[in-house]
Amino acid sequence: MRIGILGAGNMADALGTQWSRAGHEVMVSGRDQMRLAALADRMTAAAGGSPVLHGTWAEAAEFGDVVMAAVLAEGLTEVLTAAGPALRGKPLIDVTNQLPGFDVTRPISRLAADLTGAHVVKAFNLAHVDVWRMTPPVFDGRPLAVPLCGDDPDALSRVRTLVTDLGCTPVDGGGLDRAVLLEATAVFVIGLWFGGADAQAILTPREFAGG
Ligand SMILES: NC(=O)c1ccc[n+]([C@@H]2O[C@H](COP(=O)([O-])OP(=O)(O)OC[C@H]3O[C@@H](n4cnc5c(N)ncnc54)[C@H](OP(=O)(O)O)[C@@H]3O)[C@@H](O)[C@H]2O)c1
Repeated sequence: MRIGILGAGNMADALGTQWSRAGHEVMVSGRDQMRLAALADRMTAAAGGSPVLHGTWAEAAEFGDVVMAAVLAEGLTEVLTAAGPALRGKPLIDVTNQLPGFDVTRPISRLAADLTGAHVVKAFNLAHVDVWRMTPPVFDGRPLAVPLCGDDPDALSRVRTLVTDLGCTPVDGGGLDRAVLLEATAVFVIGLWFGGADAQAILTPREFAGG
């Protein structure tokens, strides 16, 4: 797959490097072309595959069969607008969390879908970037499960493949209307972790889930 990444930060680096290593063609994009060139070189060296490309927001949106938005929430509207009409009808992975300032009445994924006309899939927002650098992310012998929320079958199928390429297990999280629950879960769980709690321990094994 060709994967256009809107962003040149930690998430772009971690996930883009993994997908390049898995044999996908990757283009990162951002505001500073000098820093982008250095990032693309680093990612190419780390992945050891075909060169990671870099370009403008619009070039990455055009390039991708799948596009991933990996910028801070405060820049998302500006970036998606600059990415332009190429996003319409494309799979768009949204990894955004809003900490602080999350507003349950204004889901980020819905905003991204309304703004772009893309087939948005919310994913990868529940684990820290260091987890996305692991090869593979396996804990106590269990691969990390990655919930996906989206409406378009083709977009979901592509993102499932990208999850599997990381060595993770995709989990159907329902339609895009449920993406806000993933956004809220991230805010809640990160709050627990920062408070010193073991957030993983709040959920029981499935057999204790009331039948
Ligand atoms: N880090 C994590 O553990 C983690 C985990 C799950 C989800 N997420 C989410 O993933 C997204 C990216 O996180 P990250 O860790 O990759 O962040 P990061 O390393 O700080 O990188 C942020 C990226 O957003 C760009 N950006 C920031 N403000 C912008 C603005 N106003 N306009 C345009 N671009 C802007 C930055 O561009 P410049 O380089 O030009 O500044 C950079 O490319 C965030 O929404 C975050 O909530 C992060």
